[in-house]
Amino acid sequence: MSGQIIKVFDAVDSLMGTFAEELFYFSAKSPDKANVALSGGSTPKALFHELAKPANLDKIHWAIFNFFWGDERLVSYENPESNYGEANRILLSNIRDTRQGIFPVPVLSSPKESALLYEVKIREIVKQVNNGIPVFDWIILGIGTDGHTASLFSGAKWNEDENPLTFVAKHPVTGQKRISFTYNLINQAQRVTFLVTGKEKAQVIEQILNKKPEAENYPAAKIQPENGIIEWYLDSEAAGLLQL
Ligand code: 6PG
Repeated sequence: MSGQIIKVFDAVDSLMGTFAEELFYFSAKSPDKANVALSGGSTPKALFHELAKPANLDKIHWAIFNFFWGDERLVSYENPESNYGEANRILLSNIRDTRQGIFPVPVLSSPKESALLYEVKIREIVKQVNNGIPVFDWIILGIGTDGHTASLFSGAKWNEDENPLTFVAKHPVTGQKRISFTYNLINQAQRVTFLVTGKEKAQVIEQILNKKPEAENYPAAKIQPENGIIEWYLDSEAAGLLQL
């Protein structure tokens, strides 16, 4: 891992505003297509609303992006549970430039087929490869209070030989089937950013960032980019237990 950055913001608005600026600078200096994976869940919706503000819609160089999703619930895109559906409703459908690539997880009747097809699409679009694994320019993640990230829940496993980039996950409480990036894929990214807000995340953040024994098996603690940087964008509530 080539470095860890922790940024703490007074409020969600300033966190998302700063992240939007970061995305603008990234888009302005990106020489060609950048492969970026968006997160699911509720936290990134605040980011999508920030990015959908006219000032951001107008200034960000959207054409350079290829958007993917780090995980997806196997529901129709019209379902409010859909990570792609929500990103499209809030942000993507408002972007006038249509040159960006948008690659939602294929939601098929066979979850295994969805995972396999998504892996094929990732390999087709993401040209930079390291040790046989496509290298994303930027992967944005959230974190659950149980330490999961994307749909990597404790005990997640997949067939390394057949399908090392994506797998069929099952939510441990709801049983909901999902497709998720694997550790192999996330840990090859050049940049991984966790967006974390709210006091309910303070304990898991403290445990992970202070490498507490409880965090040893947290999936989010296994996100350690091999060559990339890892960033933690925290609001003051999520950072509330850190001695910074
Ligand atoms: C998902 C996400 C998941 C999410 C965490 C945090 O599809 O739900 O990928 O990993 O980031 O569960 O969710 P909140 O942002 O809603 O707290």
